[in-house]
Amino acid sequence: MEIVDLDEQLQDELLKIDPELNGTYHSRRKLHSLYCWTWLETLHHAVSFLSKDSVIVDLGCGSGLWLAQLAARGFTNLHGTDASQDILDTAQALSSAMGYDIKFTLDGTLNVPQSPADMVTVFGWAESCKIDGHLLSHLEFTERITPQLAVGGKLSVEWYCDEDVRRPQRTYLKGQEPVVDSRLEEALKMTRKFKGREIALYIYQRTS
Ligand SMILES: C[S@@+](CC[C@H](N)C(=O)[O-])C[C@H]1O[C@@H](n2cnc3c(N)ncnc32)[C@H](O)[C@@H]1O
Repeated sequence: MEIVDLDEQLQDELLKIDPELNGTYHSRRKLHSLYCWTWLETLHHAVSFLSKDSVIVDLGCGSGLWLAQLAARGFTNLHGTDASQDILDTAQALSSAMGYDIKFTLDGTLNVPQSPADMVTVFGWAESCKIDGHLLSHLEFTERITPQLAVGGKLSVEWYCDEDVRRPQRTYLKGQEPVVDSRLEEALKMTRKFKGREIALYIYQRTS
């Protein structure tokens, strides 16, 4: 199936389920759009080492569009978590409408529901992750996830590089390399400017 056609179909289903998502962050997520270059790069990377039954977990999955893209490509062991039950209900409805079997779990503490996971993805919110009111550093964030990854498994994470004055309570990279869990090795790093923001994609591999 062509990426663009699938994007349109997913958007149509999503807006049928919840018209209020129109124009919001969730409905703007399309794999073929420049906005989602991190998804496309992760997909290219993932297909080279994953098999169709690999355990893939998307933390903070929102409306589940990324997992739906994977389901459409034949991946069968897909899991999403989110801190919001409302958005998970939408994600579940979208998955069912498309005939996909994706499992969703309510969680706001970086628990990986099926572990060890072969791949964990985090898009669009990693720098604002708070647990018990504490804003996690890059190190703390990755230290929670790494033990739940299989050795050899990968973590793909999108981080903002530049500070946004409207959102000071976040852990921006600000030109610095993130300090991450020592069991992780960088497998891919890319940065791009999009709509005035600089966004980084890091894919790490768990080595031990
Ligand atoms: C900007 S949206 C990104 C959604 C999706 N990852 C994407 O790229 O389209 C951020 C999502 O992260 C969820 N979220 C925020 N904090 C979270 C946490 N601590 N644990 C799990 N999900 C969280 C929000 O409820 C929201 O659905």
